[in-house]
Amino acid sequence: MSPTRRLVLSRSAALVGAASSGLLLPQLARAQGAKVRVGFMLPYTGTFAQLGVAIENGVRMAIAEQGGKLGGREIEWFKVDDESEPAKGIENANKLVQRDKVDVLIGTVHSGVQMGIQKVARDSGVLTLIPNAGVHAATRALCAPNVFRASFTNSQPTLALGQAMVAKGHKRAVWITWKYAAGDEAYEGFKDSYTKAGGTIVKELGLPFPNVEFQALLTEIASLKPDAVACFFAGGGAAKFIRDYAAAGLKDKIPLYGSGFLTEGVLDAAGPAADGIITTMHYSDSLDTPRNKQFRLDYVKMFRSQPDVYAVQGYDTGLLLAQGAKAVNGDLTGNKPALYKALESATIDSPRGKWTMSKAHNPVQDIYLRRVENKENKVIGIAAKALSDSGAGCKMG
Ligand code: PHB
Repeated sequence: MSPTRRLVLSRSAALVGAASSGLLLPQLARAQGAKVRVGFMLPYTGTFAQLGVAIENGVRMAIAEQGGKLGGREIEWFKVDDESEPAKGIENANKLVQRDKVDVLIGTVHSGVQMGIQKVARDSGVLTLIPNAGVHAATRALCAPNVFRASFTNSQPTLALGQAMVAKGHKRAVWITWKYAAGDEAYEGFKDSYTKAGGTIVKELGLPFPNVEFQALLTEIASLKPDAVACFFAGGGAAKFIRDYAAAGLKDKIPLYGSGFLTEGVLDAAGPAADGIITTMHYSDSLDTPRNKQFRLDYVKMFRSQPDVYAVQGYDTGLLLAQGAKAVNGDLTGNKPALYKALESATIDSPRGKWTMSKAHNPVQDIYLRRVENKENKVIGIAAKALSDSGAGCKMG
């Protein structure tokens, strides 16, 4: 037997021994170019169901553009419907992490559910990409080296809203929202920007998520007679709020403003009741750039529906993941420092405009001022340039 052949034989015998003892299995699998295990934890039922679908579409489109692979490897997909149910957040995240052994978890939409994911992400170290949920803690006090957000923090859009409202002469406003982290943190941004600009918030109104019984609160708004109303709602609930606001006779009397989610993915359902609503958001359908136009054409071709901010965030999550995977040849667990460095230094060439990652792993991005006209969010200005979340309390390590 030649010396080389003997070496090969004894090496493989050693490998078999190690593999049967369970020691080398993961390394062997990866060395052989195993599939990358990608898990979606998103709402596929309830008021945010449409948001989950748009996000998944966006991710799949970005990856299809990379030839359907990550860092040269095939992908195996896993899915969990989180139902936007915070009480099941940890359990659902563990279905992907413990049971399915995903290499990357993509999730989710709802800030309360995100807190469950954050705990599992911090405990397990699994790469976690947030395609929507804006809960501050994920990129502030509870930030983590393995968690990256491709969307926004809840106060980012509304930090650009108050000034725009005062500039229109609206000095007294009512705020209304679902009472949970996303609404409460959107309020923080609104309060800060509106009061700094000289506005007064006459009343803060709320109802529990995902309640849509708005009638009593709309009656209260009518009697308070503010100059304007600002709000945070999203998904199915947003469409109903817009319709109910108009049906209550408020649309032409008290202008409605919002964190831009109010008018995302709901313009068909809301109809003419949405016309004239002004919002602030990190994306707009009407952005007149070749990048956005191409994205919209390709998305419609692939999914036969119009993309919204959620589709863009999903798409950007896919672009981010592709950049990270490329740096480590698809092995998302072998060389974490190289993976994190690639994700931290990424510039995402997004349909929303180019954005970069803050130190706390949240997008630094422009915020647009938009007005609904004929079922479209038309850009009417830039409300903030390269806006970064404070990242307060974030210590990586
Ligand atoms: C959130 O819960 O963080 C959330 C949900 C829907 C949105 C935006 C934020 O459109």
